[in-house]
Amino acid sequence: MKLAVIVGSTRPNRISLKQAKWVLKTAQSKDGIQAELIDLADYPLPFLNEPISPRYNPNRKIEPAVKKWLDAVSDYDAYVFVTPEYNHSIPGVLKNALDFITSELHRKPSTIVSHGTVGGARAAMHLKEILSESRSVVIPNAVAFIGLNDAVDEDGNLSPDVKSNPYGPQAALDAALDELQWYSDALSKARNQ
Ligand SMILES: Cc1cc2nc3c(=O)[nH]c(=O)nc-3n(C[C@H](O)[C@H](O)[C@H](O)COP(=O)(O)O)c2cc1C
Repeated sequence: MKLAVIVGSTRPNRISLKQAKWVLKTAQSKDGIQAELIDLADYPLPFLNEPISPRYNPNRKIEPAVKKWLDAVSDYDAYVFVTPEYNHSIPGVLKNALDFITSELHRKPSTIVSHGTVGGARAAMHLKEILSESRSVVIPNAVAFIGLNDAVDEDGNLSPDVKSNPYGPQAALDAALDELQWYSDALSKARNQ
């Protein structure tokens, strides 16, 4: 499975990056997963400026910055979206990036790894609906991380006491990645039939 771990915030000093590095490290340690980071900070986009909804515009003219993002995101079998919670939802930068999507996520599985005072739960619920509308198959497993800042270092290493909790975020992430792999295998077979 070729997996993209998408970092959903771009502000200086963001902590989502270290959460994404933790996801990336975990994914790369698993057999059969080829994981890469897509950092929205590397894909500066205009605010959606297309005259017709991208999905319904056969004559769509895509500007280079947008094409770069769409090409990057289309190159994967499955996705982990790492998002903080901003005002009970996802960051505007992530919503805007998803508004450019047409078929790039179609029939491909995704999961959500969120954080915030309540684990980013409200952002994750919004993102689930947005990804469904983007035609991704959002799997039931997700990870809602409370206390991320103290638990993960800058390189994405989870502290040993949190890591060993059988009901903690590491167990949730392991289960989510296993499920993602199952859905990815099933859906890629079906897409190629
Ligand atoms: C504009 C803004 C709004 C926020 N709103 C919420 C919120 O509604 N609920 C919450 O739990 N945390 C909220 N927070 C706290 C963030 O989840 C926390 O700062 C987190 O580190 C942000 O992720 P980032 O560091 O990747 O940007 C907010 C932070 C910002 C900057």
